[in-house]
Amino acid sequence: MKGRKLLIENAHIPGITTFDVYQKNGGYRALDKALKSMSPNDVVEEVKKSGLRGRGGAGFPTGMKWSFLAKPEGVPRYLVCNADESEPGTFKDRYLMEHIPHLLIEGMILSSYALGANLSFIYIRGEFMWILEILEKAIAEAYSKGYLGKNIKGSGYDLDLRVVPGGGAYICGEETALIESLEGKRGNPRIKPPFPAVKGLWGCPTVVNNVESIAAVVPIVNEGGDAYAAIGIGRSTGTKLISACGNVARPGVYEIDLGVSVEEFIYGDDYCRGMANGKKLKACVPGGSSVPILPHYLVTKTATGEDRLMTYESLADGGFATGSMLGSGGFIVFDEDQCIVRNTWNFARFYAHESCGQCSPCREGTSWMEKVLYRLEHGNGNIRDIDLLAEINKKIEGNTICPLGDAAAWPVAAAINHFREEFEWHVTNREEAVSRNYGLSKEPVTA
Ligand SMILES: Cc1cc2nc3c(=O)[nH]c(=O)nc-3n(C[C@H](O)[C@H](O)[C@H](O)COP(=O)(O)O)c2cc1C
Repeated sequence: MKGRKLLIENAHIPGITTFDVYQKNGGYRALDKALKSMSPNDVVEEVKKSGLRGRGGAGFPTGMKWSFLAKPEGVPRYLVCNADESEPGTFKDRYLMEHIPHLLIEGMILSSYALGANLSFIYIRGEFMWILEILEKAIAEAYSKGYLGKNIKGSGYDLDLRVVPGGGAYICGEETALIESLEGKRGNPRIKPPFPAVKGLWGCPTVVNNVESIAAVVPIVNEGGDAYAAIGIGRSTGTKLISACGNVARPGVYEIDLGVSVEEFIYGDDYCRGMANGKKLKACVPGGSSVPILPHYLVTKTATGEDRLMTYESLADGGFATGSMLGSGGFIVFDEDQCIVRNTWNFARFYAHESCGQCSPCREGTSWMEKVLYRLEHGNGNIRDIDLLAEINKKIEGNTICPLGDAAAWPVAAAINHFREEFEWHVTNREEAVSRNYGLSKEPVTA
């Protein structure tokens, strides 16, 4: 399996969005196999063996999450696919659903079978209306071919699958806000515990999984959990979709074997092919806007001089002082011309806009941070503002119901930690700061 694309290998085949072409190219083989020869528990065991970790950002082991699902008698269980994908820099789920929708649908049926769910949902970002139509068409085909509905392929297993458009807010991607939204309410996160596995959708046991996590169940069932686990390094098993954007020569969605080096990913011919326009690397946010930024000297090497790898562990090496996170795989690359203060403000503006407002530290803190960063970026800041940002950060971090507050605070803390000089330059060079940026006024950084 090593070196093979397990999810998007066939995404380029003309007509692969249709049932017939998908099936001709090996589609629904895993589902046929599971329905004929595997019990639901066998599927759960294969997923456990695979070591698959949630691809939505937190990296929680999927098999373990599934085994936590409460199974009280007479109470329905639900599987909800989180297709809300709104994290800046992340666009891999969108690619998968748009190009190979039946892979997600096959994964949904397999996973629902494993969990004993008879009604499952795909909660899709409201702005992805055209993808919703693609999915609905594919679901209608799956019904007409007997892969959804009553007594699927004579197995005695029933499943209905619905696609639901999201509420148009980033917070609706947080699993408990998503559940609230799916129930028709405002998407406010719930206090945990109880966790959705015990009390989720309409108070029933629920598993929420990311699009890519669910799609990965197809190759895991096809080839076996052990074969999947043989790809990758340590606890980072399997393949991972990475959406690369920013100043690379070839941005796009790549399926990597976990464990590829970051250097290879940025500069290798199979991936991003280096920096665009011959510019130098200045920084990288490797896992979507919520993760700490890495300065150029920590992108391809860790603080101890090891090669930085595309794994959960290696990207986090050094903690938040000198590391970052794999997160949702939104790999954002900055060249020497990019202004870190401007980018930090841009991200902060996003979080201030997207805070649901339920927790005061997040509601107030994100908008204070946005205002302070705005004045720093626009030539009206002072040196104390930099420490003020750090103080606001500490007030938000860990003090909110959901991790949106942390997601807003960490990137600001990391930007100040690594680029303090650039923040100070914005204060001491106010006029220049509004017209030029620090990167251009200094010696170019080297990769
Ligand atoms: C503010 C916020 C937004 C999130 N958005 C998404 C999202 O768009 N897609 C996603 O899969 N997970 C998102 N998550 C993570 C989910 O809460 C949840 O952990 C994930 O869907 C679990 O799936 P997994 O175990 O397959 O990764 C978000 C979390 C937070 C705090």
